[in-house]
Amino acid sequence: MFIALEGVDGSGKTTQAARLAEALGEETLLVREPGGTVAGERIRELLKDGEVRLDPMAELLLFLAARAQLVAEVIRPAMEAGRDVVCDRFSDSSVAYQGSARGLGAERVEELCDLATGGLWPGLTVLLRIHPELAAERMDAQGRTADRFEGEGMELQRRVAEGYEEVASLHPERVRVVDASVDPDRVHLAVMAAVAAVRA
Ligand code: TYD
Repeated sequence: MFIALEGVDGSGKTTQAARLAEALGEETLLVREPGGTVAGERIRELLKDGEVRLDPMAELLLFLAARAQLVAEVIRPAMEAGRDVVCDRFSDSSVAYQGSARGLGAERVEELCDLATGGLWPGLTVLLRIHPELAAERMDAQGRTADRFEGEGMELQRRVAEGYEEVASLHPERVRVVDASVDPDRVHLAVMAAVAAVRA
């Protein structure tokens, strides 16, 4: 099964993706976006560098290039070998960040994601829902430094959160919302329940 974890910066999805992958067993493949391939890691560096100027469409196409490579090189082969795949972000990140928050349009970005991935969408997308303000407080507490997106402030994160809500209401068949404001153990249990519900 192909599962993606989504949420605003500081929602805890990286921790939860790792815990989920561990719980599903050692055959499970855990990947992060952007990255996961040589090309993807280079593109990631470019995207994370706040000094590099990028038009929203250029930004989107870089994310999509990284994803296209990841799908072709890593995700599809793993799925064909029958492995579970857990992805720390996937196409819904582009829809929420570039489509909704950057204003490129959710529908248009969704279509471009479909093109870039050859029509691959997660069987389950777990949306970790948390107020962007609380997520930002957590990141401060962890001493995490801001990158291109985190540095752009609350307004952007709020629009990202709204974008995710739109994705959840448009695709109830594959998106499950989990409250990410509680402690990590409880979030993990809720993530596992969402997986079990889809597998049943
Ligand atoms: P992420 O790996 O979650 O950052 P970190 O390693 O700091 O937790 O993602 C990097 C940033 O890229 C994050 O702010 C979300 C953003 N992003 C997009 O804007 N569009 C996308 O398609 C993806 C995958 C990420």
